[in-house]
Amino acid sequence: MRVFIAADLPGAVRESIAAEQKRIAASIGHGGSSLRWVKPEHAHLTLVFIGDVEDARVPAVIDAIGGEIDLPAFDVVFQGAGVFPPRGAPRVLWIGVEAGARELIALQQTLASRVMSLGLPLDDRAFHPHLTLARWRESRPSDRGRALDAAPRGVVGRARVEGATLYQSRLSPSGPTYTPLARATLT
Ligand code: 2AM
Repeated sequence: MRVFIAADLPGAVRESIAAEQKRIAASIGHGGSSLRWVKPEHAHLTLVFIGDVEDARVPAVIDAIGGEIDLPAFDVVFQGAGVFPPRGAPRVLWIGVEAGARELIALQQTLASRVMSLGLPLDDRAFHPHLTLARWRESRPSDRGRALDAAPRGVVGRARVEGATLYQSRLSPSGPTYTPLARATLT
């Protein structure tokens, strides 16, 4: 089963994401035709991508993630934009995190160490908090500047993070389905 953990986002942020996606799409115009926009109801701030886990081990992951986390709730401000990877043809267009990044990193580390204590391997790349807005189906290096010129510079939205959710992700040609499996609450 493919699973990952994401910070919980309130509905108002999803409305801001939807409005920003429309604005960027209109600004890029035809040059954005190979961008696939994330449905606002699917938007998430990934904290830990665990990937494929044997079904028999999923209950242990649910136990490790569900329940309370001894960190206070905090506010996140979404601001600015960028693309992954940092050079060449872009694959992902995202909104960055201004205030709240330090707290997100602390939450990410707590959750990642719970996962690793189960003996599950995790990607050791540095955590870069972001909110994916769109992915390119195909792209060229020149798409990078076009997207960044159209991307927001100011504040896109704010959210109070009160917890994180472990999701099952099912991929299909019509798009992903995310099913919550467990919730961690900040206390
Ligand atoms: P992102 O959109 O925030 O980058 C669920 O698959 C989520 O996990 C994706 O939406 C992606 O979040 C994140 N993710 C991180 N590393 C991944 C990887 N190696 N493969 C697929 N998804 C990954």
